[in-house]
Amino acid sequence: MDMLLWYGLYLEFGCGQYWYWPSGFSCSMVKGGQRRSWMECSNGIAFGKIRAGQVETKLKDLLDREIRDLRISVTDRCNSRCTYCMPRDKYEWIDHHEILSFEEIVRIAGIFIRLGVTKIRLTGGEPLLRHDLCRLVEQLTALGSLQDLCLTTNGSLLVDQIEGLAAAGLKRLNVSVDTLDPERYRQITRRDDLVRVLQGLRAAKQCGLSPVKINTVVQRGVNEEDILPLIEFSRDNGYAIRFIEYMDVGNANNWLSEKVVPKAEIFETIRKRFPIREKGRDGDNAPAVCYEYGDGNGHVGIIASVTEPFCRGCTRARLTADGKLVTCLFSDEGYDLKGLLRRNASDDEIRALVSSIWGRRTDKYSEERLQAMNSAEGYKAKHRRKIEMISLGG
Ligand SMILES: C[S@@+](CC[C@H](N)C(=O)[O-])C[C@H]1O[C@@H](n2cnc3c(N)ncnc32)[C@H](O)[C@@H]1O
Ligand code: SF4
Repeated sequence: MDMLLWYGLYLEFGCGQYWYWPSGFSCSMVKGGQRRSWMECSNGIAFGKIRAGQVETKLKDLLDREIRDLRISVTDRCNSRCTYCMPRDKYEWIDHHEILSFEEIVRIAGIFIRLGVTKIRLTGGEPLLRHDLCRLVEQLTALGSLQDLCLTTNGSLLVDQIEGLAAAGLKRLNVSVDTLDPERYRQITRRDDLVRVLQGLRAAKQCGLSPVKINTVVQRGVNEEDILPLIEFSRDNGYAIRFIEYMDVGNANNWLSEKVVPKAEIFETIRKRFPIREKGRDGDNAPAVCYEYGDGNGHVGIIASVTEPFCRGCTRARLTADGKLVTCLFSDEGYDLKGLLRRNASDDEIRALVSSIWGRRTDKYSEERLQAMNSAEGYKAKHRRKIEMISLGG
């Protein structure tokens, strides 16, 4: 008999597995692919029998948020040096031996899927720097139970890899483009890759990926004037686009609240030129508020983590390239899953740890930031240590 005491109590006998949990979980039992019974337990005590491999659990944190999305950073390396992301000072890259192998990533992904994750995003650093990424896409696709598998990339290596990624099962992707002006692109990324990135976008479309989305971080005094040209470009070429408020991720980007262009201002800039109608969030938990153009030619989204935080709907967990589970983009700590994996822990042990971490989660950093920004003392980004974006995965 294996027995684990964690957030709940897990028991395993030859005849089956049993969970006992005091609060915060719900569970459905599935037989022959059909859901047969359902137990909800948010405030009481429940005891249930679970047959191995047949269970969906709806894991919730202390703010009643389910775990639904997993962002996996496949590398912290990057071939760009975006000023808003990449530390300018010395940054110590994660040692290669510490980076999760594809097999380890897939195993962890499977565990998260059993806990309720339906969507995985591959990110980094620059994910296309990871050798043979399409093999990982293929393996994740083969898990069969994901509703959505996507990729966020700076696009500079897309032309060479997009066919393989599409063949491996990738259906959609986001490409970061903050300006169409070559000189400004160089200033923001400290690289000269704009032409290659635009070729990559086209290639993704030609390979049938849909939607192909552009991510644009808007910074005051840097690229506000790029909003409308980027909208025109995306509409003309059939790309979706999302504008992202500049965030204080990590500690190295010298974030200042004055450099944030608020959602309301981005909205006004767009609305003056293109009538748009709010459609709400994609699903109830997507970061972007989505708008439809009046002429029906596509959508635009705005992600307002700073001025309109969406912590209460945050269902995202993050896995760093070196195998740490992080429950908030602005966190300063991760929980080491790789150590457990490499000490030959069973899936059930890892699942119990993830359940325990998520079950205790209370993060709402962006809400707290906004409160501080509105307070008499104001908000000091440097006062809180945070994991850098390239380690964490955006
Ligand atoms: C960290 S990057 C990793 C993936 C890939 N290298 C890329 O650039 O798309 C993921 C996303 O985070 C965004 N990002 C990075 N730093 C940011 C910041 N300080 N504020 C808002 N978004 C940021 C990037 O623009 C990108 O869209
Ligand atoms: S935003 Fe992406 S491309 Fe730019 S430095 Fe960060 S990880 Fe690299």
